[in-house]
Amino acid sequence: MSRSFLRLADLELAGRRVFMRADFNVPMTAAGDVADDSRIRATLPGIRHCLERGASLAIASHLGRPTEGALAPGDSLAPVAARLASLLGRPVPLVKDWSNRDFAPPCGELVMLENCRGNPGEKADDPALARRLARYVDVYVNDAFGTAHRKECTLSALATEAPLACAGPLLAAELDALGRALAAPRRPLAAIVGGSKVSTKLAVLERLAEQVDLLIVGGGIANTFIAAQGHGVGASLYEADLMPSARRIGERLAQRGARLWLPTDLVCADRFGADAEVRSCSIDAVPDDWMILDVGPASRATLTPALASCGTVVWNGPLGVFELAPFAAGTRALAAAIAASPAFSIAGGGDTLAAIAGFDVGDGIDMISTGGGAFLEFLEGRTLPAIAALLDARHGLAGATV
Ligand code: 3PG
Repeated sequence: MSRSFLRLADLELAGRRVFMRADFNVPMTAAGDVADDSRIRATLPGIRHCLERGASLAIASHLGRPTEGALAPGDSLAPVAARLASLLGRPVPLVKDWSNRDFAPPCGELVMLENCRGNPGEKADDPALARRLARYVDVYVNDAFGTAHRKECTLSALATEAPLACAGPLLAAELDALGRALAAPRRPLAAIVGGSKVSTKLAVLERLAEQVDLLIVGGGIANTFIAAQGHGVGASLYEADLMPSARRIGERLAQRGARLWLPTDLVCADRFGADAEVRSCSIDAVPDDWMILDVGPASRATLTPALASCGTVVWNGPLGVFELAPFAAGTRALAAAIAASPAFSIAGGGDTLAAIAGFDVGDGIDMISTGGGAFLEFLEGRTLPAIAALLDARHGLAGATV
């Protein structure tokens, strides 16, 4: 039986104390400023929704992995509150030491609560902490898809203790898009899994091997698949102990009539660096002591036709070392192929988002997830703890079905 959770749009908010868990775990510059505010911007619709309806809004988030009870100056959300204030065009006061007192602002106002991972009991999902916080909450909103894979107090126990718990618009949109891409995809369904190691994405690869019509592997992951097919990979990063897993994944895809895309030619370098000597070679001619750092031109040319007929594309991870100009062409071609495809496309993960921004193809991707680890765990088919908490919440009677 499918279960449902409430959505923010379903609730009457005027005069109510809303506690919103956001994921403002954003990259910071060495000077302590917000380096990328995508996650803050992604949360603006939910924040505006609450304020426009006259709610009292307290927003909580973690930043980094501080020690509970001992926040250091660098752990503070002050720069995030300042950025949010400038995006909203209104002040956003920061409330410190809030776990034992009334933190709710007057109706129509908002505050940001200092780094929730500073509260003793947050990481252990302490129900006693949740009960204390819930005294000042009428409506709990989770709009933190990026942290939905963590079982912590403001993500889990508080959802259970609050009188009402619901999903914010960002969380709901991400779940809708991922559900659409994986539960009932328009086919053919293609997945691209790139990045350095099979070991960190083995569960994702195994799950996708049961679902997709086309699996494109790239980066160090592809190197392990190439080695598993008996080709030499020179001095490339690969995982010899995972060659049997790579073979099994290839066999499973073949059994299901699905296709594994591997490059047929490669861009190799005599060392890792933008100034290395670079050469293209076929998959069976990687020079000894050279490293595979990107897919070659013939392989790149197959990406657009391969994705053109797809109904759905899920993308996590680059095809090469795209941060270095000589090895960026493969990931650039992939990004362009996804953007050009009429398929419903969804992309997630830190490297992937950096590639999308770097190659300026964001407009061609239907859903760019704010999740890194959460996105991967969703692809693995796990029920994310924060979503489970919303489903178990006492008033989860209507709304989205997962
Ligand atoms: C993320 O950036 O992936 C989330 O905010 C989770 O952060 P964490 O890995 O410190 O729990």
